[in-house]
Amino acid sequence: MATGTQAYGESWYWDNRYTNEPGPFDWYQKYITLAPIINLYVPQNHSILVVGSGNSAFSEGLVDEGGYSDVVNVDISSVVIEAMQNKYKDRPQLKYVKMDVRDMSAFESGSFGSVIDKGTLDSILCGSNSRQNATEMLEEVWRVLKDKGVYILVTYGAPLYRLRLLKESCSWSIKLHVIEKLASEEKSDHPLWELTKPVPLNDDGSSVEEALGRNADVHYIYICTKESSANEH
Ligand SMILES: C[S@@+](CC[C@H](N)C(=O)[O-])C[C@H]1O[C@@H](n2cnc3c(N)ncnc32)[C@H](O)[C@@H]1O
Repeated sequence: MATGTQAYGESWYWDNRYTNEPGPFDWYQKYITLAPIINLYVPQNHSILVVGSGNSAFSEGLVDEGGYSDVVNVDISSVVIEAMQNKYKDRPQLKYVKMDVRDMSAFESGSFGSVIDKGTLDSILCGSNSRQNATEMLEEVWRVLKDKGVYILVTYGAPLYRLRLLKESCSWSIKLHVIEKLASEEKSDHPLWELTKPVPLNDDGSSVEEALGRNADVHYIYICTKESSANEH
């Protein structure tokens, strides 16, 4: 049986964790710190899919502070989905569905304007058969997006590790933003890089290190736009 971060791709691990830690807990960043990026790329009328939503308060922030009115959340853990369905039973803007992101066949192609992923591709990359699982996930994200829709990937993965994976899965056009790894609502007085300004991104991502310096202590936010389904998989 997988142990430690190896188990992050397994439903039993998350069921156990959410039974013992009902939350709420947000990995990496909270809604409030990411709001400027969400506002920049997600129009108000978009239907949003949050993949691997967990028990995070991020989706509640999308509705209460962002003003979005159609936020669908999926997660592989039945424990967390039942808890969140119960928590938000009086909030029609927030839907929770148990689903594996590698098979979202319950959704028609082109159902969503935006897909938001905070830590879920990272989790899948920790498990066994990670490359195959990640490709299946990315192909499903691509399929459920409308043309010109955006996949917003918040990750600890630097371009050196994530760019090739993204490019090999589907023909995204990709922009990159970064946000410092600060404790929750803290805001840096002197950010390393302005959040809403894309970081120069060349083919292999080496331009990012040139712009930010070595070992920048940031989370990466990849804005992946589905340009056309002409070459749909
Ligand atoms: C690192 S947590 C992030 C949770 C939340 N997005 C946040 O920002 O706090 C990863 C989440 O992905 C979910 N997950 C892992 N593998 C999954 C899969 N194949 N399909 C759907 N959800 C998955 C886990 O249950 C967990 O809730």
